[in-house]
Amino acid sequence: MTHLHDGACEPLTIALPKGRLADQAIDLFAAAGLPRPELDNGRKLIVESADRTVRYVLAKPSDVPTFVEYGAADLGVCGLDTLRESQRHVYEPLLLPFGYCRLSLAAPADRPDTPLRYESQPRVATKYPNLTADFFRARGVNAEIIALSGSVELGPLVGLADLIVDLVETGDTLRANGLVETRTILEVQAVLIANRAAYHLKRQAVEKVIGRLRHHLTEREKKETWNGGNH
Ligand code: PRP
Repeated sequence: MTHLHDGACEPLTIALPKGRLADQAIDLFAAAGLPRPELDNGRKLIVESADRTVRYVLAKPSDVPTFVEYGAADLGVCGLDTLRESQRHVYEPLLLPFGYCRLSLAAPADRPDTPLRYESQPRVATKYPNLTADFFRARGVNAEIIALSGSVELGPLVGLADLIVDLVETGDTLRANGLVETRTILEVQAVLIANRAAYHLKRQAVEKVIGRLRHHLTEREKKETWNGGNH
């Protein structure tokens, strides 16, 4: 494996969202030829590659855009949902092929049509108050947004909210709680983000990472298309 930069440079710092997305990101980076971090027992929040060219910072998913905007990390991986909700100013050089899901509006299955009437002022529970407020504002609906930090599906079940806005992947959680999707607000997948100054100041190392990922993803896509065509 070749190094990301020659000589004694500062390592490139990459913020990853702790959990499944971090594992998928590390696997993708390694497949693209970037150094793997030396993992310990999973408690350490900063892990470096053996050659010390890359340092991975494991952050709470919703904090990744903050680390990158402030330059605490040069690059980061997060979901488009987190990035848009954060309203942070970062570059978004590359969409990544994992973390697929959608941010949806959902309502109780027995009254799916109440949501968007102009005369009503729905109460909407969500972990995404900014995106939810934008969605209703754009439709002229005066919604009351109730910000929660998890188990949002509880909202309508306990009379806290009329509707919810939350991530849907398989739809199992909604179904299990008697809710149905009524609108897709945002199609979500993982995205590589970059600090705006680092994009220029550490140009060589940053471009190498983006270039390798792009190349790997293009080759992978070609292979999949080729395999698909031979079935
Ligand atoms: C996410 C999301 C939904 C669920 C959707 O929750 O907020 O609750 O997954 O997945 P599904 O459509 O496949 O059922 P998460 O597990 O992150 O927990 P949280 O609700 O406590 O944030």
